[in-house]
Amino acid sequence: MTNQPHSPTPAPDLFTWEFATNPYPAYAWLREHAPVHRTRLPSGVEAWLVTRYTDAKQALADGRLSKNPAHHDEPAHAKGKTGIPGERKAELMTHLLNIDPPDHTRLRRLVSKAFTPRRVAEFAPRVQELTDHLIDQFADTGEADLIHDFAFPLPIYAICDLLGVPREDQDDFRDWAGMMIRHGGGPRGGVARSVKKMRGYLAELIHRKREALPDAPTPGEDLISGLIRASDHGEHLTENEAAAMCFVLLFAGFETTVNLIGNGMYALLGNPEQRALIQNSIEREQLGLIELGIEELLRFDGPVEMATWRFATESLEIGGQRITAGDPVLVVLAAANRDSARFPEPNTLDVARRDNQHLGYGHGIHYCLGAPLARLEARVAFMTLLRRLPDMQLASASTELRWRGGLIMRGLRELPVEFTVQRKQFR
Ligand code: HEM
Repeated sequence: MTNQPHSPTPAPDLFTWEFATNPYPAYAWLREHAPVHRTRLPSGVEAWLVTRYTDAKQALADGRLSKNPAHHDEPAHAKGKTGIPGERKAELMTHLLNIDPPDHTRLRRLVSKAFTPRRVAEFAPRVQELTDHLIDQFADTGEADLIHDFAFPLPIYAICDLLGVPREDQDDFRDWAGMMIRHGGGPRGGVARSVKKMRGYLAELIHRKREALPDAPTPGEDLISGLIRASDHGEHLTENEAAAMCFVLLFAGFETTVNLIGNGMYALLGNPEQRALIQNSIEREQLGLIELGIEELLRFDGPVEMATWRFATESLEIGGQRITAGDPVLVVLAAANRDSARFPEPNTLDVARRDNQHLGYGHGIHYCLGAPLARLEARVAFMTLLRRLPDMQLASASTELRWRGGLIMRGLRELPVEFTVQRKQFR
């Protein structure tokens, strides 16, 4: 620890097992004593952690912090130590989370033409169908591992359907994504192989779809076809750009949603009175509280611990701390979202919280592109689980839960629950 001026308590250890289980006391210490804190990450790379809300929001919007790993003064990216595992080897680098304007502006405008709120809204019945189908698989057993049986498959099948991956190939994606999620924080060889396979598959699928694309859009056209068709002043995505775009949609939209459902359900199960408020509002079909509640779950224990890598392009100050050109900066969204300078009683889950401008989806030009889809999946998932399995609780046999603590995302490895057996399908 380099900047911990006059702290009465010793600096907490970061990135340990205890930290993955509950990082919030360490974040509270950092916010108070070393709000912009230089640390050595488990990979050996040194980076600045930004933990206060105001600094975090400013840093996310600061154009001097680049997303392009070429600005890092170490060849860490080349060694796979920064960025998404496997992306470099699989030539998937040119995606939204690795580029700056003007390239970012062009690609984001193109993808936004295909990934529209309307396309997402039209997808709602399919998300409901997938959700019900997954719950049907375990509703008559009285128990489930909500991560493995529900939170994990839902987003992968949803995004595959949205992209237009044929159903018969979707289990391959489930396997590849499973490899990424299981080993995200650990050995990278298997992850790199999975990413490479995904890349190969996507390249071929995009090529096939491009060849078969009719002149005019058809109703319900899939997202890959929409991406191929999207044009900006006559410019289209290249096949490589389209593959990198599909990859980032999968990467950014998969584990995040798994963790939103997992962390969120765990928080509700541990706060029965808050859960009862949501359940009552579902019974009364008042969607307002569910929507507020999902935003609060994102603030309270959101899936994205830190925003993705940023690199200082010049010497600059964040929160009074000098950052040297080339230094990596990680904005700790989870710490900012519990900052008492911004949120009253930040450690309390309050599903009716108003004025909840949390940073769970980021801020600025890289603000989550998939937020409408994430909100749709979360709404359908929470409402359906709580409606169909109203007395769900943590399994009594469950011992201490284990957390997957990667650098960027944090979520449960498993979430064993039990509930009264539902013999008949009830919707
Ligand atoms: C609960 C779910 C989700 C959360 C909490 C979340 C969070 C975030 C955050 C924090 C960022 C900004 C990262 C940064 O600035 O470094 C981001 C960006 C992004 N997200 Fe999400 N996300 C979620 C779901 C999704 C979904 C479902 C998709 C798409 C299928 C998606 C696609 C993206 C993309 C493409 C970006 C990059 C945008 C850009 O760089 O312009 N996300 N997300």
